[in-house]
Amino acid sequence: MPRTPPETRTREWILTTVTALTLSSSSATGLRADAVVVGVAKGPKGPVPAPGAEAVDEAYGGKLGAVLEALGASGGEGEVTKLPAPDGLKAPVVVAVGLGALPEKGDAYDTETLRRAAGSAARALAGAKKAAFALPLDVADDTAAVAEGALLGAYAFNTYRDGGADAAAADGKGAKATKGGKGAKARANGGAKAALAEIALLGGKRDKAHRAAVERAAVLAEEVNRARDLINLPSNDLDPTGFAAAAQQAGKEHGFKVAVTDEKALAKGGYGGLLGVGQGSQTPPRLVRLEHRHPKATQTIALVGKGITYDSGGISLKPAGHNETMKCDMSGAAAVLSAVSAAARLNLPVNVTGWLALAENMPSGSATRPGDVLRMYSGKTVEVLNTDAEGRLVLADALTKASEEKPDYMIDVATLTGAMVLALGNRTFGIMANDDAFRTRIHMLAEAAGEQSWPMPMPPELKKGMESPIADIANMGERMGGGLVAGLFLEEFVGEGITWAHLDIAGPAFNSSGPFGYTPKGGTGSAVRTLVAIAEEAAHGDLV
Ligand code: BES
Ligand code: MN
Ligand code: ZN
Repeated sequence: MPRTPPETRTREWILTTVTALTLSSSSATGLRADAVVVGVAKGPKGPVPAPGAEAVDEAYGGKLGAVLEALGASGGEGEVTKLPAPDGLKAPVVVAVGLGALPEKGDAYDTETLRRAAGSAARALAGAKKAAFALPLDVADDTAAVAEGALLGAYAFNTYRDGGADAAAADGKGAKATKGGKGAKARANGGAKAALAEIALLGGKRDKAHRAAVERAAVLAEEVNRARDLINLPSNDLDPTGFAAAAQQAGKEHGFKVAVTDEKALAKGGYGGLLGVGQGSQTPPRLVRLEHRHPKATQTIALVGKGITYDSGGISLKPAGHNETMKCDMSGAAAVLSAVSAAARLNLPVNVTGWLALAENMPSGSATRPGDVLRMYSGKTVEVLNTDAEGRLVLADALTKASEEKPDYMIDVATLTGAMVLALGNRTFGIMANDDAFRTRIHMLAEAAGEQSWPMPMPPELKKGMESPIADIANMGERMGGGLVAGLFLEEFVGEGITWAHLDIAGPAFNSSGPFGYTPKGGTGSAVRTLVAIAEEAAHGDLV
């Protein structure tokens, strides 16, 4: 059965062109740039320029707040106002970004507020070459937040659009245009705007702490953006073999080990979950093991990601309206790849292994049928009542395999259930765990990293619904509490004595609505920053 004809596939992906960021000693008035970004707070009597905006406000004769008010601005979070620069500025445009309520005297702006504001500004500057950010920078954490938000907000996925391809080629980055892209007439979308190319952070200290903060922020943002790229690539260009190749490329570039188990070796090893899910597809499954090691490490964390490069539902086919965004069903694996890559790039003194459970879930004459029984890598048998509950099957094999190495902590990340989206909405992931303190810890770390999450229970009575009359367990149970049922299923495959958590990112992994703050439309890179924060904590000692 022909897949996408090879000659029309995009062979060389044009992935994110990296936005450059520097700490600058220039003044907001003296720097040559396309725009200067300042902050504006929502004061009791109208918009108030934030610290960092002094020189710009002065150039407006001290009337920046009044000008903004006259334009209808309030300083509310996410608000972006572009205005012509006054005389005395080298940049032609001023971008005022809302910071929300004016903090109480002596209080600083909260880091997530700064991250989001920087993100909104960077997003509004798509197409520009260089911007100066003059936002309130007090401590190194503020500098990190602005850097991270700006680099995340600048992200653009233009692999398949004229504008992006041309811009990338013009940059000399060697990016190739998609077939039919170059020279084609302007598309309905008018071509795409390239990501803001260069950011200068003004007004902050430039000591060792600040430089390190910026370096970490840049690595984090680049890795989140790598995950976004992989998620946004459509399934005809990113299949399990392609994903494994992308992992190998990242490993080579950043110095971590990558080992790929192909379908033959999976069959030999008895990986019934991965093979059962992948067998309906023309493109075979893969299990990828990533490894970052550090000689001073005292702890080992295993990260396991669901990597369904397309989830059609299989024979239990999803109806129209439920499958258009299912290229995002490998978001967990993308987050794991990015987190391991970040751990390697930051040289964290902790051992991190990553497991990518890659398969494509398709219906065909060779697909697993509802009612089939799979023998999993663990030896347990699973009755597949619904082929659309495939994520837990590939994860089960990867969790068993990862457990063999006896990690101190194991965390899986997956776009696992629609039920979790119903429970928590589109911006919050659910955390389940076999240890309450571990679950709480992850929740706190996620919050500090700027990712919304919520602890979810594992009610033991829901196990009963997964009893099968012919196998050890069925791959689904009660509909009510479906997200929790999935977590209980996974727990069956976690090795004895391993502290484990499960992050269900089905809601926040893919943003089908409009962009906000530093979050673009499409793949978001959900969980990358939380996983890196967990690895950093483990580098300092016990997590529970
Ligand atoms: N990949 C889906 C879950 C999903 C839904 C991710 C919405 C992102 C957005 C998963 O494989 C799935 O289909 N789960 C089923 C399980 C059910 C059949 C027990 C679901 O949630 O409906
Ligand atoms: Mn599914
Ligand atoms: Zn799925």
